[in-house]
Amino acid sequence: MRKKIVAGNWKMNLDYNEGLSLFSEMINMIRDEVTGKQEAVVCSPFIHLHSLVQLSKGYDKVSVGAQNAYQAESGAYTGEISAKMIKSVGAEYVILGHSERRQYFGETNDLLAKKTDVALKNDLKPIFCIGETLQEREANQHFGIIKSQLQEGVFHLEEDQFVKLVIAYEPVWAIGTGVTASSDQAQEIHAFIRIEIAAKYGQEVANNTTILYGGSCNPKNAPELFAQPDIDGGLIGGASLKSRDFVDIVKVFNQ
Ligand code: PGA
Repeated sequence: MRKKIVAGNWKMNLDYNEGLSLFSEMINMIRDEVTGKQEAVVCSPFIHLHSLVQLSKGYDKVSVGAQNAYQAESGAYTGEISAKMIKSVGAEYVILGHSERRQYFGETNDLLAKKTDVALKNDLKPIFCIGETLQEREANQHFGIIKSQLQEGVFHLEEDQFVKLVIAYEPVWAIGTGVTASSDQAQEIHAFIRIEIAAKYGQEVANNTTILYGGSCNPKNAPELFAQPDIDGGLIGGASLKSRDFVDIVKVFNQ
């Protein structure tokens, strides 16, 4: 069966020492309290990555990821960070296509297709984010938007590459707003995503793809969201900055 994942996205928060102490707290709580087969992923700013990987050694339920990677392998791109560099410090995941990157940094589906290729080439597992804005939902365009984000962003991949992806559905109107999608709204889109994957890669690949929900997910609403048949975990922003909240969300999958 597909993997259950709870991924934290720290965004541009926490200085180096704050990040290390939060992560240390989290991994000890996860070691003591998490009993299932779920995986916790912490996606930190680049600055923290190497140290978090070192701290996570021996904690088999915890992985570390970056929040972005550049679309070229290397070269004269002052200030950028490559997938190879991220991989070289031991990080396993990279968030690609987060709506804040799409919105504030003009990242398009075409660009994200390139970033996905480079990340996979360097053996990173992309957590590929898709989701509609409020305007798009109100105009009843959400299914079309999700479909084109998949088609243009990741459906160029061969099946043996696609299976390494995690998909995250994050309605933009739910991110950082305190307004969560209802479990029915989220399930409806997750089921649609799985149908699209099945149409492209077949039912078995679709059944094995982990699809996360993101957007104002917290310990109170996570149990109902994660109980939906097509929701395999969460991508957690605000609540991933508090060890108790994040670990409580991870524990929703305890057995
Ligand atoms: P949020 O962020 O949980 O603070 O809404 C989710 C995300 O942006 O990944």
